[in-house]
Amino acid sequence: MNERKKDTVKIFDTTLRDGEQAPGCSMNIEEKVHVARQLERLGVDAIEAGFPIASAGDFESVRAVAGAVKNICVAGLARCKPEDIERAAEAVKPALNPRIHVFLATSDIHRRYKLKKARDEILKLAVEGVKNAKEYCGDVEFSPEDASRTEPEFLSEVVQAVIEAGATTVNIPDTVGYAMPWDFGNLISMLMEEVKNVKDAVISVHCHNDLGLAVSNSLEAVRHGARQVECTVNGIGERAGNCSLEEVVMALRTRRDIFDVDTNIDTRQIMHASRLVSNVTGMLVQRNKAIVGENAFAHEAGIHQDGIIKERTTYEIMSPEDVGVDKSRLVLGKHSGRHALRERLVELGVELNQQQFEHVFEEFKNLADKKKQIFDEDLEAIVREELESLEDVRVMVDLLSFHISSGTGTVPTATVQLKLHDGEVITDAATGDGPIDAIYRAIDRITEMECNLSDYTIRAVTGGKDAMGEVTVRLDRDGRSERGRGTSTDIIEASARAYLMAVNLHFARTEETNMQKKC
Ligand code: KIV
Ligand code: ZN
Repeated sequence: MNERKKDTVKIFDTTLRDGEQAPGCSMNIEEKVHVARQLERLGVDAIEAGFPIASAGDFESVRAVAGAVKNICVAGLARCKPEDIERAAEAVKPALNPRIHVFLATSDIHRRYKLKKARDEILKLAVEGVKNAKEYCGDVEFSPEDASRTEPEFLSEVVQAVIEAGATTVNIPDTVGYAMPWDFGNLISMLMEEVKNVKDAVISVHCHNDLGLAVSNSLEAVRHGARQVECTVNGIGERAGNCSLEEVVMALRTRRDIFDVDTNIDTRQIMHASRLVSNVTGMLVQRNKAIVGENAFAHEAGIHQDGIIKERTTYEIMSPEDVGVDKSRLVLGKHSGRHALRERLVELGVELNQQQFEHVFEEFKNLADKKKQIFDEDLEAIVREELESLEDVRVMVDLLSFHISSGTGTVPTATVQLKLHDGEVITDAATGDGPIDAIYRAIDRITEMECNLSDYTIRAVTGGKDAMGEVTVRLDRDGRSERGRGTSTDIIEASARAYLMAVNLHFARTEETNMQKKC
């Protein structure tokens, strides 16, 4: 007997748009393309790559992502305004499956205070927006922003009208994370019943996590007929974030008995996607985060360990391998050669040109001299450094050497030697509250650049005393913010490298601005 084909719930990933809108989560074009390629490997159905009218950078990244992925849909966001829609259409043009996602707020509170428009005007603008987008693209999604706080009968009216106008997906956002799961489920049920042409479009949901309910609300919506879920890797996004991709996907999979649906996600790629997004955004994943947190599959209690050894399912509802966690895997060591490294990089989905590969190999060998066991996370950190190296940016200051004197009862002092782009070597020293403060002050004395260190995070790339430390900093100057990252087995060196990367980016931006002013 043929097995009945299950419904598929589409996964629409908005890590590069809503995720990136979160403070401190911005990514550059290369990083976005890198993430997009991993999302493709992960098997998402659609990527929302950005909001093209928002800035030239956003436009370029949507275009770059549209050209970089092959089989999945690439969406660009637009308000219901002709200029937004035209820009979004232009940005997604290189995609094989482009989509324009138009949105307009429909709730009373947004109509009254933000848009100052009556219901009939909103309805008209929504329909016009969809029709306008249809002129450029067959695949049009419409979102009534703040849908969960919109009067249900008006929401039905809008949904029906935009489907009539040609929307192929209608997304119901819980924009401020206000909904309760049972109410949100009932709202989706109501739309499935009341909207006459609902079968002509896919009903999607987009939940924010202000009350920690984004995943629950999305699951409840699926139970009531939604067939697209919008989410982000690690749940990053505005305020408390968006529905977390890994959580919603693994809930659908683990509790197939309830949901009776499939997704197209290759769950074994989840961990890699999570680490990549965390690394490029500098947004650390909390240790006890479901699915991708470091402790998600760790069993500490003796009783649990005993149970797991006897029968895994006593305490594990998913297997770590299913989400790509393979802790026991030791990747490479001191004696591994180019071939082994290349093969492992291919397995990790890393694409490098020959020159980049040679640099990575060199760094890998240097690290293998300091550290016995090289794990995937180490390799990923080396690759990240290589891909982020300031290739297109003139390096104005580079670290030659440093010396730190620090300890209890002494004033932390750093002596730094930097090489300038013209070859001049400058040495200076400074004291500080701690060794890192001292080294940053010494660098500032040489560069004479006054920056505000608005963020500093440090993490061990892997476990073990010999683990590499990865430092991410954010430096603000003249209303601009630049992120820098440095990796080393010496955390002070990693800190200095991260700082210098951000300083160099500031120098480059200042140069760019000065050039533009002259032109
Ligand atoms: O949260 C929201 O309402 C949005 C829309 C633009 C879909 O992000
Ligand atoms: Zn949102």
